[in-house]
Amino acid sequence: KKTIRDFDFNDKTALVRVDFNVPLKAGKVNGEDRIVKVIPTINYLIEKGAKVVLMSHLGRPKGEYKEEFSLEPVAKRASELLKKDVKFIASREIVDEKVLEEVKKLKKGEIALLENLRFVEGEEKNDVDFAKKLASLGDIFVNDAFGIAHRTHASNVGVTKFLPSCVGFLVEKEIKYFDDALKNPEKPFAAILGGSKVSDKIGAIENLLEKVDVLVIVGAMANTFLKSKGLEVGKSLVEDDKLDLAREFMVKAIDKSVDLILPRDVIVAPELSENVKGTLKNVEDVSEGDMILDIGSESLKDIEAAIRDAKTVVLNGPCGVFEIEEFSHGTIELAKILANLDATVIVGGGDSVSAVEKAGVADRLTHISTGGGASLKMLEGKKLPGIEAVEEA
Ligand code: 3PG
Repeated sequence: KKTIRDFDFNDKTALVRVDFNVPLKAGKVNGEDRIVKVIPTINYLIEKGAKVVLMSHLGRPKGEYKEEFSLEPVAKRASELLKKDVKFIASREIVDEKVLEEVKKLKKGEIALLENLRFVEGEEKNDVDFAKKLASLGDIFVNDAFGIAHRTHASNVGVTKFLPSCVGFLVEKEIKYFDDALKNPEKPFAAILGGSKVSDKIGAIENLLEKVDVLVIVGAMANTFLKSKGLEVGKSLVEDDKLDLAREFMVKAIDKSVDLILPRDVIVAPELSENVKGTLKNVEDVSEGDMILDIGSESLKDIEAAIRDAKTVVLNGPCGVFEIEEFSHGTIELAKILANLDATVIVGGGDSVSAVEKAGVADRLTHISTGGGASLKMLEGKKLPGIEAVEEA
């Protein structure tokens, strides 16, 4: 696949798809990782004499203009982080005569950001006409939006039919880490999957069971496994229609000699709320009125022992309801365990990324992915349409 090193950008307009789908709080950017991580690509393009037109989605406005989804605050924060003006070229149509004019006026080294692509229905429908309109804004298309690579939209797939296309440094790096980890992992290879639902992770479990030495299942999805073993899970989140599947996965793990680790002790409370206190229980002692909300200290010890010698570890999903202090301990302690390993550690998924940041260990892990859904697709061993489109362009 072509990268930005393969093109001459001098005096060219680079149309760059980024994933600036960042959290906002009171109209301001509250989590800028996705902006920071595309700065090397933007700076490289400027150094090479390009004019840079950035485009992104933000949230899910569903094809119509909604003020709270405007990218204006993101343009402002990007300007601060880049220490260069990022001109916000706003049209609710995304591309119109005025936008074309403004883009034409850009000089070498100047940067612009378009309004939220999802204000137009054509974006998520991968509409050809919308893709063509977007393409008319640039000479070369650069895809540096790993977070959206699992979607087939006009701005990452459609546009590649109309412009010479390549990937930026961020996409290149993300793919490299996931590819190396999944195709050629240094062994022992351990995967830790958490989060609320087995149904979200079926593909990943199936694929990983073929590859890993250790598979750790935590978070509410572990409840489904515990229940399928005949244990009481009380009022916990559980997927009753996935009990058989969980059993099949446990059988497959034995078949494949994968060390499958489930929580041995858990933190329970009568309900999920900010004000309840958690109680530590062995999984055998969970009763009808309990809700499992985190893993316990023995479980953490089991995990630590199982991954101590691992050379490659992937993490996707939290151990419990880590947004609430009382139930954040398992997720935070696990992040610290990972930081102390002598291994390549790859973290994906929005919740896990916030958790490692909260634990203060982000800079001690090998790779923190900017992709949630996209990184999960990689763990499933699936191709990403956004990347394939660039390869085929
Ligand atoms: C993400 O945050 O995972 C990406 O920006 C994709 O967003 P989406 O799930 O709304 O398509």
